[in-house]
Amino acid sequence: MNFELKPLSLSAAAAEKADLLVILVPEGFKPGPDTLSTVLAQALKAEDFSTKAARLLSAYRLAGVGSARVVFAGVGDGAAKAVRQAVQAAVASVRAESVKRLTLVFAGAEVSAQAVRSAVQAVADGSYVYTATKPRADARVLQKVTLGLAATPNAEQRAALAQASAAVLGIELAKEWGNRPANHATPTDLAAAAKALANRGSGVQCEILLPRDVAKLGMGSFMAVAKGSEQELRFIVLRYQGAARTQAPVVLVGKGITFDTGGISIKPAGEMDEMKFDMCGAASVLGTFRALAELKPKINVVGLIPACENMPDGRALKPGDVVTSLSGQTIEVLNTDAEGRLILCDALTYAERFKPRAVVDIATLTGACVVALGAVRSGLFATDDTLANALQAAGDRAQDLCWRLPLDEDYAEGLKSNFADVANVAGRAGGAVTAAKFLQRFAGKFPWAHLDIAGTAWKSGSAKGATGRPVGLLLEYLLSQANHDAHQPAAKAPAKTVTAGKPGKAVAKAPVKVIAQASAPRAKPSAAKKA
Ligand code: BES
Ligand code: MN
Ligand code: ZN
Repeated sequence: MNFELKPLSLSAAAAEKADLLVILVPEGFKPGPDTLSTVLAQALKAEDFSTKAARLLSAYRLAGVGSARVVFAGVGDGAAKAVRQAVQAAVASVRAESVKRLTLVFAGAEVSAQAVRSAVQAVADGSYVYTATKPRADARVLQKVTLGLAATPNAEQRAALAQASAAVLGIELAKEWGNRPANHATPTDLAAAAKALANRGSGVQCEILLPRDVAKLGMGSFMAVAKGSEQELRFIVLRYQGAARTQAPVVLVGKGITFDTGGISIKPAGEMDEMKFDMCGAASVLGTFRALAELKPKINVVGLIPACENMPDGRALKPGDVVTSLSGQTIEVLNTDAEGRLILCDALTYAERFKPRAVVDIATLTGACVVALGAVRSGLFATDDTLANALQAAGDRAQDLCWRLPLDEDYAEGLKSNFADVANVAGRAGGAVTAAKFLQRFAGKFPWAHLDIAGTAWKSGSAKGATGRPVGLLLEYLLSQANHDAHQPAAKAPAKTVTAGKPGKAVAKAPVKVIAQASAPRAKPSAAKKA
């Protein structure tokens, strides 16, 4: 998919030959004398159309209009959220497989950078189609998306387009890997996907640790989870270097359980297939690196992915077993289904060697978090207020929301064990918090945050599929950090600080027209479907 931003009046839009022309109409819109405005004015007057967010009016073969299908979509106050809703509804209202060229016109004068970003991401979201194990005739056909503005795009709008198209690449990579069934997304497959990112010659390096490496390091907790599977574990280390080597990195740690049966503490059969999504944290790290490679912000980032299956077997970890983590702490495994924390704790200890400025882990960690926050906001835990605030604000800007939950020491009470330094589960109450308290024991040496994405990483039911969250949040956070550094002259970054344009945001140079290429991550651009 290719996104373009250009000035386009409503009369010029009428001449466009797109398969679908969407006109985004804000409240208080003043119709001009052109054809589209005339139709719009009549429909508004007759109350057959309203500028309320996501209200639609569809037309076909209008006289004097070059595009066969026209959809007018209300965008209310024009805020990012309303734009997203409107674009989603408009794209969903047509047969997606019939749209190769889409033109979206903002009919209002004021268009925020956030609105541009929102429109790009809504188009991508609504047209994504999974194809890895389901080749289909109606795979994504959408190739060219033109965003039209009343005036010449400004620097912020152009930067927003570049950022959004990079985010789309990352989000779609995360969706793709999240959606793949476990037999098409083994730890070895994930490692190959990480390697493929590094091969793009884009500031990303990748190192894969094998079982013997992990054993030598002493990751006894991670190894214990992997023991019950025929699939070998992998520990993926990604590095993106955009700033001076001396600058401390942000470390992202993604839970990469490629299938979670629960192990010996086996899960019930119903919906167990959804545990193929238990590597969505890992997928979000891959996706974020994909976007970093595109935007090349001035920041250093390390990605760590412990990847393995959680299976029951003759050699599997048993309830009551005590394992020794990389940190040296012993862990009594009371429930083998609380495996995410067992692999993450060793990755967190491993993160220490990078002397990070911050560590953020991302994990489909607890059903309790789904109960607490549902599918709207990811759970956020943090030992550092600045980090927590930066993540929450990034989520707000990216419309990839999270909500902070507590880490009071009292919640750790239930993790006490008579046979080890710590148990891997407490009681049922406050399950998302007690899981975070367990992780916190391994995150004492750096500012740390934990995102529990169990409720937000995928959708169930007929819309079953990965969402690509929280790639948008993570990317926005990292870009804001890079931006912040650039405006901090006394910061650690040594000399050589010649910056062109807006640091941390890839500002396309073309004065009028910005073209951002967004080719699909692995396979060919996949197909288009409903929102
Ligand atoms: N991967 C699951 C968490 C999960 C469950 C995410 C359902 C989304 C939907 C995790 O490994 C797990 O099984 N957690 C247990 C922990 C419990 C045994 C303390 C859970 O949440 O039930
Ligand atoms: Mn589990
Ligand atoms: Zn799990």
